[in-house]
Amino acid sequence: MSPQPQAAVGAPLSRVEGRLKVTGQAKYAAEHDIGGVVHAVVVDSSVARGRITGIDARAALAQPGVLKVITHLNAPRLAYRDNPVSLAPRGGRRLRVFQDDRVQFFGQPVAVVVATTLEAAQHAADLVEITYDVEKPSTDLTDSPADEPQTYARGNAEQALGSAGVRLEMSYRLSRNHHNPMEPHATIARWDGDRLRVWDKTQWVIGVQHELAAVFGIPAESVRVISPFVGGAFGSALRTWPHVIVAALAAREVGRPVKLALTRRQMYFSVGYRPAYEYKLRLGSDRRGRVTAMVHELKHETSRYERFWEANLVLGQMLYAVPNVSQLVRTVSLDVSTPLWMRGPGYSSAAFCIESAMDDLAYELGIDPIELRLRNEPDEDPSNGRPFSTRRLRECFREGAREFGWHRRNPKPRSTRDGDWLIGTGVATGCYDVWRGQAQAYARIDADGTAVVESATHDAGPGTYTSMTQVAADALGLEVRHVEFRLGDSTMPPAPPQGASQTMASVGSAVQDTSDKLRTQAIKLAVEDEGSPLHGVNADDVVVSGGRLQVKGDPARGETYQQLLARNNGTHLIARGSYNPGAESRFSMYGYAAMFAEVAVDARLGLVRVRRMLGVYDAGRIISPKLADSQAIGGMVGGIGMALLEHTVTDHRDGRIVNANLADYLVPVNADIPDLKAIYLDGRDDEADPIGVKSLGELVQIGVAPAIANAVFHATGRRVRDLPITAEALL
Ligand code: MOS
Repeated sequence: MSPQPQAAVGAPLSRVEGRLKVTGQAKYAAEHDIGGVVHAVVVDSSVARGRITGIDARAALAQPGVLKVITHLNAPRLAYRDNPVSLAPRGGRRLRVFQDDRVQFFGQPVAVVVATTLEAAQHAADLVEITYDVEKPSTDLTDSPADEPQTYARGNAEQALGSAGVRLEMSYRLSRNHHNPMEPHATIARWDGDRLRVWDKTQWVIGVQHELAAVFGIPAESVRVISPFVGGAFGSALRTWPHVIVAALAAREVGRPVKLALTRRQMYFSVGYRPAYEYKLRLGSDRRGRVTAMVHELKHETSRYERFWEANLVLGQMLYAVPNVSQLVRTVSLDVSTPLWMRGPGYSSAAFCIESAMDDLAYELGIDPIELRLRNEPDEDPSNGRPFSTRRLRECFREGAREFGWHRRNPKPRSTRDGDWLIGTGVATGCYDVWRGQAQAYARIDADGTAVVESATHDAGPGTYTSMTQVAADALGLEVRHVEFRLGDSTMPPAPPQGASQTMASVGSAVQDTSDKLRTQAIKLAVEDEGSPLHGVNADDVVVSGGRLQVKGDPARGETYQQLLARNNGTHLIARGSYNPGAESRFSMYGYAAMFAEVAVDARLGLVRVRRMLGVYDAGRIISPKLADSQAIGGMVGGIGMALLEHTVTDHRDGRIVNANLADYLVPVNADIPDLKAIYLDGRDDEADPIGVKSLGELVQIGVAPAIANAVFHATGRRVRDLPITAEALL
């Protein structure tokens, strides 16, 4: 097989679906036009723990247009089979909607009203009277007992700490964050006999398919899930949440298609969040800045019914060449809903603590923070001794320092002023795993020379429509405008969840394989066809460019896909292909980032403004540079939110979420966002996957918050170890 010319991959394309989005033609979950649809509105519990003692739905049912009020008193018992195709924490017991009188968290769905109009359903939902036998909830991470720990150890960290030349001890507290995508979660469900079709906001159509099948006790083949457009998710759409089940249940009960869209307020109740953390870190180093020991003690919140897990120990094990490490992580089971992965899950939280601590150590020793990190660069993965596939963190820092003007700074804290503003700069390392999963794809070339490529993947924002089109276009030798990539339908060839930054590597490699097979098939047809100008040519000497099969080095000799198909009376050619990462790699594979931030802190008011940020990424090959930039900028914006603004507030007296709206839950807006710049190291990682990419999706968020915290320290001399960093903390 001759390598194909790469014309589309690496080109700064705009989103191929951009026009559909800006003209309102892209259909999000609640926007699909389904005939005969009626509306469901969820009633949420107003207590965090207890039992429902009574439900009075008479006033609601008396409203015109109301079809049904479903509660645990009249809902059918559902199968709730175990579902192995799920991202639910193992060993827990997922929330079962309307199956009993138990209330396990504030905002739990306790009833649903179905009506012919949304307005009727909303009004009737307000009229449902529910009484509770209330128990005192525990929702405070600080004051509640922890579950049994998970631990990791290498070397003897306590001993090494005892003999270290420099010892530091830090405590961090990270607030709960909610994903807050622009598009709220929504589901439309329709039963056709015993077959269920669902239009859903999801990062995993196959996951929703299997969960609905398990809950309703029907075969997975009877469930089809459609999700062509997702208005942001950041992890919140990786699980099949209770409202999806409610929509399908309501549709079955009223015998009509049902639309259920969560309100913005309900987006804070049962669709996941980044858990609050408490993180104690002790660090030992020699005087030259070689870290000899790290002791990590973490705890984070989870629900009582599921033991949430995220990868919060990885960075502590592999980021730096620390010989002695001990880690202990405990969940604290509370009367809250179950958390879920959010933007760089686990890694973001751990990176804030570790990278803040490295900054403290740099000041303690009088070593430049970048130099300190370079002194602790490992030659191999210190957690398992494996070679890195690629690890170019040094280059990230070198390139970033030059671009950012790092060495112009006065290292002394509180040394730079601009009027009333204290100016500071900070750095931090970002790092995220290279996840890959099994994926399949389908491709077809039609008689008109255009191609369709499909995989049951998703585009929650990273630009999957575009990047997959680019990969397919080059492998098929077609112009981008002649390739249509389709996704978001569980009947398509299966793909993994769009999470853990695995889509480009996994689905991209499947698309490449599929497109290679299709091109090879066309070439074979041509070289064996006596009527083709390519007859008798060695197939390995044929490339396809601009839709034309031609001899490499002799482009005049060839023909188009259209000519080939027409002469063979063909309407189309199809191929199926796949990617399977196979057995565990002998390499350690991660993406890396050097994050730089400059902040200004109002010396009198404590107000923090980010002035500029730069990210330099070692993410392997960049398929779609413009969308990589979009992702990187989004990651920096999210990181600014985590660092300075985002904070879900719970009233621990009754477990109520106090700021369940976008006016009181602060997220960055345009006025908070300065000049952000992203740079990618040129290159590829051929150990990671066939198309040479590493992960980018989560990487861009990790390291942002500590870079900002470190800049705040440089500006003010004040170390803030609680997130978000507030004005109060700086006064
Ligand atoms: Mo990402 S938090 O795995 O959507």
